[in-house]
Amino acid sequence: MSDTPLYTALLEHQQKNRASFHTPGHKNAANSLPADLLSLDFTELPDTDSLFEAEGAILKAEQRATELFHSARTLFSAGGCTLCLQAMLFLVAPRGGTVLFDRVLHRSVVHTMALLNITPVWLLPRPNSGRGLPGRVESADVLTALQKHPDAKAVFLTSPDYYGVLADISAISAVCRKNGVPLLVDNAHGTHLAFLKENRHPLSLGASATACSAHKTLPVLTGGAWLNLAEPTFVADAKHAMSLFGSTSPSYPIMASLDIARSWVQNSGYTAFAELEERVAAIRKLAARLGIPAPEGECDPIRLTLRTLEAGITGTSAAEHFRNCGVEPEYADTAQVVLIATPFNNESDFKRVENAICTLPLGKEMSGTLPALPTLPPMLLTPREALFSTSEQVSLAQSVGKIAAETACPCPPGVPIVMPGEKITDEIAEFLRGYGIFSLKVVK
Ligand SMILES: Cc1ncc(COP(=O)(O)O)c(C=O)c1O
Repeated sequence: MSDTPLYTALLEHQQKNRASFHTPGHKNAANSLPADLLSLDFTELPDTDSLFEAEGAILKAEQRATELFHSARTLFSAGGCTLCLQAMLFLVAPRGGTVLFDRVLHRSVVHTMALLNITPVWLLPRPNSGRGLPGRVESADVLTALQKHPDAKAVFLTSPDYYGVLADISAISAVCRKNGVPLLVDNAHGTHLAFLKENRHPLSLGASATACSAHKTLPVLTGGAWLNLAEPTFVADAKHAMSLFGSTSPSYPIMASLDIARSWVQNSGYTAFAELEERVAAIRKLAARLGIPAPEGECDPIRLTLRTLEAGITGTSAAEHFRNCGVEPEYADTAQVVLIATPFNNESDFKRVENAICTLPLGKEMSGTLPALPTLPPMLLTPREALFSTSEQVSLAQSVGKIAAETACPCPPGVPIVMPGEKITDEIAEFLRGYGIFSLKVVK
């Protein structure tokens, strides 16, 4: 056995030489980032500035990013989009309170609710993007929820979702503005939306703040993200908010890659994304001819979500086939396989994808119905009370009637079936069993 299990695993994976259709967006391509970032792994020095007290090179780099996004202020994160989400929620609810949340959300948001003692009110997506997909929150539902909860401190949405499905941010931000409530958007998967033929970035469509996981779709090292603020009132406390949750040793190579990516966007990114849009559209067309649709309605033009179940093969089987064809997808579930394409994929990568699509063994697997989501359970404790309680792992049968101490989401990017603080019902236990989940952490 090797003395360096992780390093060895990475080398072995690299040897497989699969085309990367997952994060990070640089795709390990030689033309994406300088190869010698190791030699730039410095720390806070008089020459290099300090992230949370930026007044030199980091401040200047952030100012250039601010110009790129036309924001009131854009801040660097070397702690991923997670750090931006934590800071964003702190800015609207530093001492807790009610916030309206899209039920489609990342677990870092649930954990932040617990840290800040935020009580969620759920906005349920309408199933309008196709079978097996979570769907979209609609502006009419946001308005109803705001009228019912006038104490809400903000509205929080995930858009695009993992599958590239976009909410109508223009309409929702108009509702929020009218009601005097900020709209926060987890734009982890949509940093590049500002650089497409049609700018669909949530900040440009009226959001008050966005958390953008730059490393997912741009040439940025894993962990690099931007917090974009549109509201001038957020600016004064933003660094403080980031510093509350961030490491005091942010990686300089990660921060440098954010600076390089911003410069790349300004010099060649718009053209590169325009070409990518065309390439992805051609692949979508090919898949559609074979009976494999994309999600319905407004979507990110560069996200390749292939709803293979519609053509008789599960996403998980399709993903295995893709791997055998030399393509590593980002994610797969029963209904679809998700590929993240960026300008750093080359033509040979796209040819592999086309070959994989054309050779999929279609029509061999189930095409029946997917189980309907269970009814939203009652919330008996806040996320903070449940996540910080004494808990125990019990079998699904024993969990019925108890309070969940964790999030259970059989398809992690989708709609969580039960959240910390919610009661586990028979219906929920039955649903989770169907997805191969047989035990849960519950409040003791
Ligand atoms: C929707 C969403 N939000 C937030 C995150 C967290 O981003 P990061 O890994 O950059 O912290 C992810 C990660 O996959 C995500 O999918």
